[in-house]
Amino acid sequence: MYIPPVTKKEIRDLVERQVILQQELKKVFNSPDSDKVLTKRYKPAEVAELVGRSKSHINREEKNPDNDLSPPPLVSNNRREGYTQEQIQKLRDYFGTNKKLSEEDEPIILSIQNFKGGVSKTTIAIHLAMYLSLQGYKTLLIDLDSQASTTHSLGKIPDFDIMEEETLYSFFHDVLEGEDVNFGDYVQPTHWMNLDYVPSNLALYNSEYEIAAVDLGAEKFALLYSGIEQVIDNYHIVIIDTPPALGMLSLNALYAATACIIPCPPRMLDFTSTMQFFKMLDNVMGVLGEDISYKFLKILPTRKKARTQKNENIDVMEDNVLELAYKHFGEYMLESIFYETAALDWVSGENKTLFEVDKPKGSPQTHRNAIKNMNAICKEIEKLICKTWSSTEEM
Ligand SMILES: Nc1ncnc2c1ncn2[C@@H]1O[C@H](COP(=O)(O)OP(=O)(O)OP(=O)(O)O)[C@@H](O)[C@H]1O
Ligand SMILES: [Mg+2]
Repeated sequence: MYIPPVTKKEIRDLVERQVILQQELKKVFNSPDSDKVLTKRYKPAEVAELVGRSKSHINREEKNPDNDLSPPPLVSNNRREGYTQEQIQKLRDYFGTNKKLSEEDEPIILSIQNFKGGVSKTTIAIHLAMYLSLQGYKTLLIDLDSQASTTHSLGKIPDFDIMEEETLYSFFHDVLEGEDVNFGDYVQPTHWMNLDYVPSNLALYNSEYEIAAVDLGAEKFALLYSGIEQVIDNYHIVIIDTPPALGMLSLNALYAATACIIPCPPRMLDFTSTMQFFKMLDNVMGVLGEDISYKFLKILPTRKKARTQKNENIDVMEDNVLELAYKHFGEYMLESIFYETAALDWVSGENKTLFEVDKPKGSPQTHRNAIKNMNAICKEIEKLICKTWSSTEEM
């Protein structure tokens, strides 16, 4: 039987079909032409913790007719609906419990980085960004990966909803052309409180070549930093989700960052590859400039299998790798471990994060465990960030 060859014509046809497929996917997962909408609501106890006032105090102030506070509407049995994020923000404004940095404290630029692919960089970046912004930190999440998983998590189909001109490709290109570029033009709001982002799509990949090609010396690694610097005063925390490769974009992230989280599964191959990351970091620090330093750099063990009888052999191997990692990297290891969980499959099936889902598709207990695990990781990182600030050192 004759099988026709796949030529350029067929590939072009594939590309055209893909655009149609993406349009249909968008209809399935999001309502067409609408942005992501947060349906998650917060219970009074969660709100009390997030606002920093007791439930009864909040209740009292809400009952006072002189206050412009609107508690959630009553549903059946005298019970109220949960609070929206807007209502939480309104309460924080009312009680004056918004986060503030003192003059001498610098916003942190946190890069989630490892040259190894699939180690949970994006999962950590998006959850950490949502966790921190929910706590009240003004947060900017930069998608520096042309695979654009972060952009997708925020409800956009990268090569369909996002124009090349909206990505940092356009920023880098124009800066290299010598134009005066406003980094703020690339910052977009999200459906999540206190969280802005810079989207990405495949076009960003071209920046690897364009930045590499210019004859700029070490300055070419400072392009991203020069952009972030323009908007940094609007934020407490900037998080960069990086691509799984050593290239111009990764190097720009390493240069811009003032702290680094390195996700790494406790498996031989992943750890060996992370060793290479440190080796290269050592080499590139020479090129980037000796003045580069991080306020903290921590390895986060990710995707560790929870112990079951079925995977006991894997457990033993992972435990061995972890034990060695703690022995040799000690203070560079985060205490938390990010466990493998089916809950992430369920929520990502709906293109949501763990924090956006109220009623999980799978086991509620597994979902709660995954949230508890993620909260612990984020809290540990939050504490590290706060230690870099004099005003919140006591946290
Ligand atoms: N702890 C976990 N449990 C279950 N699935 C996970 C876990 N961490 C990540 N995943 C899944 O693994 C896949 C890869 O994760 P993620 O995209 O976060 O990795 P990455 O390091 O950003 O990958 P890349 O290098 O391609 O950017 C995703 O489908 C994600 O949902
Ligand atoms: Mg990623």
